[in-house]
Amino acid sequence: MEIGGANNITGEFKIPGDKSISHRSVIIASAVSNDVVIENFLFSEDCIRTINVLEKVGVKIEKINGNLIVRGKGIRNFKEPEEILEVGNSGSTMRMISGVLCATNFLSILSGDKSINSRPMRRIIEPLTKMGAKIYGRADNTKAPLVIFGNPDLTGKKHEISISSAQIKSCIMLAALNARGETEIMQPEISRDHTERMLEYFGAKIIYDGRYTKITPGNVLKGRNIYIPGDISSAAFFIVACLILKGSHIIIKNVGINPTRCYFLEILKKMGAKIKIKNVRNISNEPLADIETFYSELGATVIEKEKIPNIIDEIPILCVAASVADGTTIIKEAGELRHKESDRISSIVSQFKKLGVNIMEKDDSIIINGDKNLKVNGGVVDSFGDHRIAMSLAILSLLSKDKVTILDSECINTSFPDFKYLLKKALK
Ligand code: S3P
Repeated sequence: MEIGGANNITGEFKIPGDKSISHRSVIIASAVSNDVVIENFLFSEDCIRTINVLEKVGVKIEKINGNLIVRGKGIRNFKEPEEILEVGNSGSTMRMISGVLCATNFLSILSGDKSINSRPMRRIIEPLTKMGAKIYGRADNTKAPLVIFGNPDLTGKKHEISISSAQIKSCIMLAALNARGETEIMQPEISRDHTERMLEYFGAKIIYDGRYTKITPGNVLKGRNIYIPGDISSAAFFIVACLILKGSHIIIKNVGINPTRCYFLEILKKMGAKIKIKNVRNISNEPLADIETFYSELGATVIEKEKIPNIIDEIPILCVAASVADGTTIIKEAGELRHKESDRISSIVSQFKKLGVNIMEKDDSIIINGDKNLKVNGGVVDSFGDHRIAMSLAILSLLSKDKVTILDSECINTSFPDFKYLLKKALK
């Protein structure tokens, strides 16, 4: 991808459906016994992987008039896949589907690309094993490919998990739905709660309150049609582009504003961002709204460890905002970033530096000395195949005098295939 400086960004537009909710919608709809229509599903590479994996275990899924129709029959009617289930680059697919497949009565093997097969999997293998699952990974049960011998006789357990991750929590919850007895999960910090909300919407017996979740199996889930709000993590790239380019003003319609996902807006507001949330409503048990943003002069901030799980996907783009914010921004103890599609601390620091940002890493923290008159250098930067790094570099490059080439930018298709088109349309 080649991108250069821009004057400003304007307009009113929509952002495609939320990636996290899209994955969950098709997985959970597959587990019920009636048809579910999913509107505004995100047809990105990652979410298509989830569809493909479910089709390989026998779920009928159709695309009609842009909607997804899932003709689920419940997991007892899933069939043994004849091939390896390929998840590509998608951690959500691998981790959440594992929770479902553990409770079947057949063998499945899950594998992905180089990045996914090097990301940590012990975090799901351990809790699932505790519930009676037979799930094994290479490298001493720490990494994919994963082999699962389905066990329809799982037992609900109490889990005290040490990492605040919605993928781990959701994986356990999906296994818990098909286990005997209750499952309780306690996490160190609050993580996104889309699985809880969707299960509640489908009638599951579930209690969730902050760091605590409890599932009691037994209720027959009743699939209901789902509208997926625009992805707030994708909207974040446009919001920050608007904040850093003088004279910008945008309105993004129908964006999900789930409180476990929006904390970056609070951080930006604290930094001086003019952001208005309008027309708040609820749909399919998720809140959504229109978000209006104006160019703003930003000041630095300090982000503490407890807030990291709530901004985990927005840290790269928050670093772009911090690059032009007056003063020193510190993002503390963000070690989980090292386990994403790339080692995001190292990707951000090395590539932002190339573009002329005064940035460094110290242990697991990122320190940025912002410059409100920042003009970034032209040149070649690497996304390391990480979609959120590629898009953050693209937004930072809007402050460049010269052309910036971003290597490996096709990875953007994993979460936001329309990114380049929408950006081009909104830029002046
Ligand atoms: C996701 C959870 C987060 C996030 C990922 C999507 C989800 O991962 O980074 O992009 O849909 O549950 P972790 O749960 O591993 O932090």
